[in-house]
Amino acid sequence: MAKIRVAVVGAGGIGGAHLKAYSELPNVCELVGVADVNLPTAQARVAQAGGQAFADFVEMLDTVKPDAVSVCTPPNLHGAVVEAAATRKIAVLCEKPPARTLAEAEALVNAMTQQGALLQFAFCHRFHRSITQAQALIKDGKLGKVVQIYNRFGFRFSRAGNSWFTEPEVAGGGILIDTLVHSIDIFRALAGEVAGVTASISTALPTIQVEDSASILVTSENGTIGALTCSWVTPVSEAEVRVYGTEGEAVIDYGQPDGLRYRLAGDESWTQLPFDQPDRFHLQAQHFLACVATGATPAVTGQDGLAVMRVIDAAYRSAHANGQPVRLA
Ligand SMILES: NC(=O)c1ccc[n+]([C@@H]2O[C@H](COP(=O)([O-])OP(=O)(O)OC[C@H]3O[C@@H](n4cnc5c(N)ncnc54)[C@H](O)[C@@H]3O)[C@@H](O)[C@H]2O)c1
Repeated sequence: MAKIRVAVVGAGGIGGAHLKAYSELPNVCELVGVADVNLPTAQARVAQAGGQAFADFVEMLDTVKPDAVSVCTPPNLHGAVVEAAATRKIAVLCEKPPARTLAEAEALVNAMTQQGALLQFAFCHRFHRSITQAQALIKDGKLGKVVQIYNRFGFRFSRAGNSWFTEPEVAGGGILIDTLVHSIDIFRALAGEVAGVTASISTALPTIQVEDSASILVTSENGTIGALTCSWVTPVSEAEVRVYGTEGEAVIDYGQPDGLRYRLAGDESWTQLPFDQPDRFHLQAQHFLACVATGATPAVTGQDGLAVMRVIDAAYRSAHANGQPVRLA
């Protein structure tokens, strides 16, 4: 089978992770182009990974005519790049958050749907080995009924206050839309659709206009409660998911080299599962390329992106109404 001709728009931090993943899959894809408004950034990437460098993503799409493209620009540009890909029927792997607002996300998903083009949102944690191990434990009923999920992503973010991440017109908001977007996707993957949300946000950094800490309480349609909490201003890095069921609990600590550990009712000790697969960016790219090759529906669809954006939208409404609960279902 011919290799998939793949391109990347936005060659910054996460663009590098997409390029690395594609370069690890040389039998499946060929990197044909990298576009970055900062041309030297694109040139440095192609010097390592191959392909042609462009400053203008439209020129790149029309020159190298890729089959598939990763959209790795800041969120204010996701819509323009995805819509350009849609009109050319190019498959898209679009970074999170889907867009700055629910309306923008709906427009880009509609553009892809109308053209019948394949869209996967880059909710990379779906491919994190420990998360898929948790999904398997839940599916097999080992944990019993899942009653609570706790998640925290906390760290001191060096780009808060000096980059687009804290410019509301570029990012669409602060840590809630940037980081807690992952938490909502993880909660949906483990507990199903969100039915209601209550949110609080706060800002500790004196110079920024967006929130740098956010905590939300969500309830799934089948009654699982999620406490999801993120901060950009706490010095000890933590990335953790805990799943509590009526028959046991599971802990995912992203800081540990091993995978998930779990303990069931009656167990005297924890059972540790191995982290026995490549990293999530590699698996995400591999899955995307397999879907492009076969026409299969991706594991993370445009509808998943919209579902997450509905929770983000509801969470901002709740936070701006002093934590008033917002129903989604
Ligand atoms: N999945 C994850 O874990 C993860 C991690 C980090 C960032 N992200 C997401 O990835 C996206 C990019 O984040 P980043 O950290 O790589 O940002 P970044 O600032 O490091 O890189 C963005 C790049 O886009 C380029 N760019 C800006 N305008 C452009 C245009 N018109 N055409 C082409 N390129 C343009 C910039 O020059 C820059 O090189 C954001 O949506 C972010 O939320 C996801």
